[in-house]
Amino acid sequence: MTKNIAIIRGDGIGPEIMEQALAVLDAISEKYAISFNYMDAPMGGEAIDRFGDPLPEESLKTCLSSDSVLMSAIGGPKWDEVPKEKRPERGLLRLRAGMELYSNLRPAKIFPQLRDASPLKPSIVDKGIDLIIVRELIGGAYFGEHKTEMINGQEYASDIMGYSRNEIERIAHVAFKTAILRNKKVCSVDKANVLDSSKLWRRVLNEVSVQYPDVELSHMYVDNCAMQLVRDPSQFDVIVTENLFGDILSDEASQICGSIGMIGSCSLGSGTRGLYEPIHGSAPDIAGKNLANPLAMILSAAMMLRMSFDMEVQAEAIEKAVEAVLDEGLRTGDTMSEGTRLLGCHEIGKAVCEKILSA
Ligand code: IPM
Ligand code: MG
Repeated sequence: MTKNIAIIRGDGIGPEIMEQALAVLDAISEKYAISFNYMDAPMGGEAIDRFGDPLPEESLKTCLSSDSVLMSAIGGPKWDEVPKEKRPERGLLRLRAGMELYSNLRPAKIFPQLRDASPLKPSIVDKGIDLIIVRELIGGAYFGEHKTEMINGQEYASDIMGYSRNEIERIAHVAFKTAILRNKKVCSVDKANVLDSSKLWRRVLNEVSVQYPDVELSHMYVDNCAMQLVRDPSQFDVIVTENLFGDILSDEASQICGSIGMIGSCSLGSGTRGLYEPIHGSAPDIAGKNLANPLAMILSAAMMLRMSFDMEVQAEAIEKAVEAVLDEGLRTGDTMSEGTRLLGCHEIGKAVCEKILSA
């Protein structure tokens, strides 16, 4: 059976980390006799340059006809001055909406080998960091009305943050179902002391939780959560939150695990087709220099095998290979610490492939 994978090579370090992820998928395909068919779907800055549109119709079609989408990272200063509708980020938001990917799962788990790369004290890290952020992805301020106008003779800008009951219910179910497979704890993060959208959010979470008696639900304000994540991240299992809060908290959660260059993510809708991407950006400053950490991209590919293709054995093979590479002390610059060896993006990818093939 062939799996058709839409590939978004992206901007900045995107193409070089994608090259490593595809090499890893090729190694899996060789080892397990599975066939992957890659279909290019230009999106972001590359698509603006080639087609004048950050998400050409053809690319959306390719993604919608695929079994899953693998994406690197998009954007960069080159496109900072283009009009809002033509920015690379617009392409990504339109893709998420076009594929109806309402849930975004962002695991933050520290590899023990990267303990010294975490900015947190060892006494905090050693209590363990293994949480997952379930971020609502196609609602809230990202998709509410955006406006810039003149009011009383001065410029005024606004972005509406709104949620319908239905939008909250479906993400709540994802959070509870995720928790059932883990430590059965959901912490819902909101700003219900100020925002109406958060009050509804909290009410709906409480209602949906009745259907999951085995899962413990707690609530936390987002400012407190930002603080608790650095004070004692071991208290969290599943964090569920709205789009903008989830964007911010997931960057924080990734950094305490050592590097944002280690964390993949998965976005899903109601079916099995997903969009898999590292949570870091396109890092234009180090693009093309063979310095980027390809592991978040590679781990995103592993997530795709598990979540969309039900290939648990192969997903684990990739994760074990990544661990083996870390065990050998092989690192890119972002995760270097005493006693480790600095390698390039390409060499780290190659090392992962070798581990897969020799396992
Ligand atoms: C992310 C990114 C995106 C977001 C940007 C690139 C639009 O920061 O995936 O976290 O804000 O969702
Ligand atoms: Mg972000």
